[in-house]
Amino acid sequence: MRVLVVGNGAREHVIAKRLYDDGAEIVSAMAKKNPGIASISSQFEIININKPSDYRNFTNIDYAVIGPEDALANSVSDYLNEKGIPVVGPKKNLARLEWSKSYARELLTNYGIQGNPDYKVCHTLSDAREFLKKHKDVAVKPDVLTGGKGVKLTGEQLLTNEELLKYVEECINRDGLVVLEEKLKGKEFTLQAFVDGKNVEIMPMVRDYKRAYDGDKGPNTGSMGSFSCPNHLLPDIPNDAVKKGEDIMKKTITVLKNNVGEYKGILYGGFMNTMNGVYLIEYNVRFGDPEAINVLSLLDTPFTNICKQIIEGKLSKPRFKEEATVCVYVVPEGYPVNPKKDQSISIGDITASEIYYASVYDENGSIKTTTSRAVALLAKGESVEKARSRAYADINKITGSLFYRHDIAEGVK
Ligand code: AMP
Ligand code: GLY
Repeated sequence: MRVLVVGNGAREHVIAKRLYDDGAEIVSAMAKKNPGIASISSQFEIININKPSDYRNFTNIDYAVIGPEDALANSVSDYLNEKGIPVVGPKKNLARLEWSKSYARELLTNYGIQGNPDYKVCHTLSDAREFLKKHKDVAVKPDVLTGGKGVKLTGEQLLTNEELLKYVEECINRDGLVVLEEKLKGKEFTLQAFVDGKNVEIMPMVRDYKRAYDGDKGPNTGSMGSFSCPNHLLPDIPNDAVKKGEDIMKKTITVLKNNVGEYKGILYGGFMNTMNGVYLIEYNVRFGDPEAINVLSLLDTPFTNICKQIIEGKLSKPRFKEEATVCVYVVPEGYPVNPKKDQSISIGDITASEIYYASVYDENGSIKTTTSRAVALLAKGESVEKARSRAYADINKITGSLFYRHDIAEGVK
């Protein structure tokens, strides 16, 4: 079985590793050489992973698994499917759930799926002013992919009315529209699911830590770490909220199947559990990073089987180990504002956890940093506390101009 894995982060490293451990031959398409993925690939190509025609030379592939959303938004799944390579990863018109916030909101509205906050798709500044008469506190969401950096909230990134209107105007001038939403208050949670076009199988819940510094201080990042619990739930999210989130995701997939097409891949729903119920914050059309590392490390059903079931539309309930996981990211000094890149890092003997490479590259046998997250450590245990102490036992073996958060999963039993 030859499987093409697209992407070069830690998320794709864990995807490739699971498939490799299940006996698949890994062929990889990367923008930069991830040493972890390269070491388990029988063939790897450094290409523009967002350009479909760059995939023309991949042959004899049984199926592909696409990690990053940009490749999905740029029709890589469509191209590979046309070449006869089935893909775990939705086609462009279905990936639209992530690349267009207005599309996701309008899909829910038009088909009567509950879960939207009050929102308005604004084409002019006066549309926005109209909405701001109703809601003082809002989220401003560009209608394009922004690498997780586009959403701005009043009271956080937008501190004055001038800043708010300036950002709204900037988005409208650039994209022709912007989405304004009432700002919700509550507890955030995410759900990741395998989807085969009709069946939706939810994975264990994972909590991630987005802020750069201890105590949830500092700028937002791609995530500094994450944990999951042995019962696959989170301590502060009640079961009925989880069921509500799952219901929104299932209804979305049914509506897509009946009106747009079969969504095959991973669906990631971001939700807010509020006093007034559960709201959808956003959809992502891929695994979370690092959340993929937590869940795929727990998988007890071969990942190769799940991928085949997704492609064939015959998904059955996957099994996950009833253990806890803790993942801690080590990142370049200065990340995410002014990261020190091209610095050598050294990795000692990692014994208590597993290591996944993210944005590092290999230069003459030396591993160097880029401007993004460097490596992730993942540990398992019978409790979160035990998994946590294992992940942190290894962390000082990774040295260089780097830092990490000390409080991932702190205080969770
Ligand atoms: P997104 O890129 O859509 O995940 O948004 C980034 C972050 O902004 C989310 O993780 C939430 O913390 C926050 N956010 C997005 N939409 C809302 C909303 N309507 N109300 C409150 N917070 C939001
Ligand atoms: N960890 C958040 C994300 O992947 O979107």
